[in-house]
This record gives sequence, C-alpha cells and structure tokens, in this order.
Amino acid sequence: MTDAPPPEYKGPQRVFSGMQPTNGLHLGNYLGALQKWVKLQDSFECIYCVVDLHAITTGPDPENLASRCREVAAAYVAAGVDPKRSIIFVQSAVREHTELAWIFNCVARMGWVERMTQFKDKAGKDAQRSSVGLFDYPVLQAADILLYKATHVPVGEDQKQHLELSRDIAQKFNNDHNAPAFFPLPEPLIQGPGARIMSLRDGSKKMSKSDLSDMSRINMTDDADTIMSKIKKATTDSMPVPESKEGLAGRAEVENLVGIFAAVTERSVEDVLAEFGGKGFGVFKPALAETLASKLSPIAAEMRRLNADTAALDAILKDGAEKARAIAQPIMAEVRDVVGLWRA
Ligand code: TYM
Repeated sequence: MTDAPPPEYKGPQRVFSGMQPTNGLHLGNYLGALQKWVKLQDSFECIYCVVDLHAITTGPDPENLASRCREVAAAYVAAGVDPKRSIIFVQSAVREHTELAWIFNCVARMGWVERMTQFKDKAGKDAQRSSVGLFDYPVLQAADILLYKATHVPVGEDQKQHLELSRDIAQKFNNDHNAPAFFPLPEPLIQGPGARIMSLRDGSKKMSKSDLSDMSRINMTDDADTIMSKIKKATTDSMPVPESKEGLAGRAEVENLVGIFAAVTERSVEDVLAEFGGKGFGVFKPALAETLASKLSPIAAEMRRLNADTAALDAILKDGAEKARAIAQPIMAEVRDVVGLWRA
C-alpha cells in the first residue's frame, strides 16, 4: 500500500509580506513588491509588515528606527495599500514573531540556513563577525509568515530562497508534530518583469539601497528631473531597442530598462518591444523616464504628506498591530499546545 498524500491545508487564503525599514525605498521595492501588494488586496486578506526586528540584524540605530518604520508605512499607504482593507503594522509590536522564531530555530536545520546566499552576500568575507541574528534572519522571516498561517507571499526574486526555507520549516514542523496540515506551505508570488530590477549602472547587480552610487537606482522619492537624469545616464549600448525578446540576450542593461517599462505600465515585455523595437535610446529613455515620473511623483507627494502627520500614521500602525495580534495570538496558542509547551 502506498502512503496517502498529506491532507490539504484548509484554512483561509491569506497574503503576508514585509519590508525592512532601511533608509529609502527604491524602484525595485516598488515593482518587485509594493505594486503587487496593492493589487492583491482585491482578492485576499492582506497583512503588510514593517520588519524592524530584521533591520537590527545589521546594527543598532535607536534614534532613527521608529521614524524609518513610519516612512516605510507611509510608502505602503501612499502606493495604495488601504489600511481599512489591509493590516499594516510594525513587526516588534506583535511579540509572538520572536516566540515563533525560537520554536522554528529548533525545527530548521543548520545545513538549511547555511545554504542561504543572502547571508553570504550580506556577511561578506567576515561571516564570523556578523551577528547571529543576521544568520538566523530567514528563520524569523518564516515565523513572520507562518504566525498568520499565510498562504501567499508576494516578494521580489531575491527572496525566493528564503521562501523555500519557510516551506521546508512548515513541512518539517507539521511532520515532526504529527499535525499534517497545521501550517500551510506558503506560496511565493514572484512572477512578472518587476521581480528582479537591476542597477541602472550594471545589469548584473540588483538595484539596492546598499549600492554606494545613487545613480544606480531610482528612489521612490526622486523628482521628475532626477529620474530623467538617472535614466538618461543609465548604461546602454549603441544598438537600437530590439524588436523581439531574443534580441535582449547578452544586453542585460537594455533588458532591465525594457523590463522596468513593462512592469511600471503593467504590460508584457513583448508589447513594449513591439512599440519601441528599432527605435534608439534617445526615444526610449525619455519615454521611460516620463512614465516613471508620472507613476512615482504622486506617490512621493502622498508620502511627504503622510510623513508630516505622525499622529495619523501612528494610529494606522496601532490599529494594524491590534488586528495582527488578534490573528497571531490564537495561532501562537495552538502552536504552544502542539509543541507541548508549559501552559502558563
Ligand atoms: P527587503 O526589505 O530587502 O525588500 C522588500 C521587498 O522588495 C523586493 N526587492 C526587489 N524586487 C525586485 N528587484 C529588486 N532590485 C528588489 N530589491 C528588493 C524584495 O524582494 C522584497 O519583496 N527579508 C525581506 C523582508 C521580510 C519579508 C518577511 C518578506 C521579512 N519578513 C516575510 C516577506 C515575508 C527583505 O529583506 O526585504
């Protein structure tokens, strides 16, 4: 007799995602995550977190941490996450994140966590001197997601490996505790041309807030002139925009700009190539810069307005934390029971 397949997870479909409150969000964060988050509100219950506990893995910043959390929350709302429909909160306001992370530390295997390439990139040559928290970061990320039994996680491509780890942790927890469908195996939502936005200067590096050159990225708060100048100076070659996808092979920077255009206008890459194929960058780049500015300028203006109203932002985050706790606490109580922890 063959083993029966594990029972399917029957709980509600729920979206969870988060961003670190590190200085300044950029176009990669917007196209890889935020833009999708806004859409998902139409079909899911959504929970969007500002992950301050993740931010302290690379060093303390007590003076600015709270204001950086507010800025990221303001970006969520300005981009279209609706606090009436979705839960927006700061991670450390729901203490169960750290409690579940500890339990998952006892589920995840050293070998699994050691394979995480983002730790290797962030720790650089001197891994011995990085914090244990930075190493353990993806386990906390699994706890973030599974504390809400989230079934779908919209992220950029760089988070793919962390999502696989979350699935492995969920599966092993379920197996180890003989609770086959206790946690769902969260599904990453990564597809689309915005999933991997690269540096404007070097098509082999991802667009990132840690790049020393500000010319490598479009910040969500850049004004129209800055966007135009960064796009005009973006690395390209002397050939025109190709007419088909095959023509993008070996032209990483061009592929990136075409991908950005497709993602921001929510069109396919083929469609963008059909419009601009054969045209020079003297035509394509200004069109791209104008499209970006018309998308980002109203969001930046709304971010400025929200950032000036700390009380309103704090009220959104307080309400979000209460709603998040109302979901997380009963799930954490169930986890404690399943694990057999002491009933205090
Ligand atoms: P973070 O703060 O580095 O990035 C936030 C989101 O932006 C996406 N992103 C990109 N997408 C496309 N192109 C890029 N160049 C680019 N740069 C960043 C990221 O993929 C991410 O979706 N570990 C996470 C935060 C986190 C989380 C979670 C996410 C903590 N707990 C639970 C989902 C679920 C991070 O550091 O993202």
